[in-house]
Amino acid sequence: MIAIKELLRELKSDEVREAEILLAHLLKKDHSFVVSHGEKTIDNATKRRFDNFIKRRRVGEPLAYLLGYHPFYGLTFTVNRHVLIPRPESEWLVEKSIEILRRHRDITMIVDVGTGGGCLIISILKNQTPAKKRQIIAYGTDISSTALIVAKRNAKLHNVTQIKFLHGDLLKPLEPKLMAYGLRLTAQPIILLANLPYLTTDDYRRASPSVKKFEPKNALAAGQDGLKYYRRLVKQLSKFINIEFRCIWEIDPCHSQKLKKLVQKTFPKSRPQLYKDYNNLDRYLTATITP
Ligand SMILES: C[S@@+](CC[C@H](N)C(=O)[O-])C[C@H]1O[C@@H](n2cnc3c(N)ncnc32)[C@H](O)[C@@H]1O
Repeated sequence: MIAIKELLRELKSDEVREAEILLAHLLKKDHSFVVSHGEKTIDNATKRRFDNFIKRRRVGEPLAYLLGYHPFYGLTFTVNRHVLIPRPESEWLVEKSIEILRRHRDITMIVDVGTGGGCLIISILKNQTPAKKRQIIAYGTDISSTALIVAKRNAKLHNVTQIKFLHGDLLKPLEPKLMAYGLRLTAQPIILLANLPYLTTDDYRRASPSVKKFEPKNALAAGQDGLKYYRRLVKQLSKFINIEFRCIWEIDPCHSQKLKKLVQKTFPKSRPQLYKDYNNLDRYLTATITP
């Protein structure tokens, strides 16, 4: 048995805050409980689990993987080593989609390619009125079947079980459905979300050891020039000549002009536009790919 304050005293000062969070998680209490109950003792089993957390944290395992969850767009998402930890800059894609759904009430289909743990599409659905939520048909695809297990768990957690998660390469698993949808006279535009891997081989090599060691490489690395997946997505999109896609993509600012040109050249009417992130970098691309 050891008192909380004794336990924390053994740590380096820059470890204390995260250690408090981990301890609160183990004790199933709030962070404030740990801070204000330094005299409380913890049992040996909890201490062993705590020590193990600290050991793993010291070798760079992200806090989110130790806790098993991470906040995104005001919600809590399950995460593990099969999914990328959602980044705050990706919240823009959710904002933009919600705005489009509000302005264009006829849009009822959303496709999220490279859905990972499902944070984008789940956040969008969670922020719809119950009537709109019922109307929406939503798909998330991913090349990683283990990521899709996490996405399904998150959808259940947030009670948006209408999302269909499909395993496969970008739009491939949806091809028959989209072909059939395009044949409908009443086909409405589709929101196409993508936050695909976009690091060049060199950027990935330079990424922090913690990212490289613990986060899935197939969620980050995108070939020599970082455009491997977006280039393929553009090619896949050329097949669906009858559908209007409202593309909302997160991209690497270093490729923004190159990708914009590619979209413009492939779909001359698409009006691709770049948007800046909080650091004033072109992090997002929107385009309307029309029939
Ligand atoms: C940068 S993560 C984005 C995860 C999540 N959408 C988000 O915004 O946090 C990219 C995701 O794309 C998936 N992915 C990589 N290649 C893919 C492919 N060819 N087809 C579908 N998904 C792919 C990865 O498994 C990963 O989950």
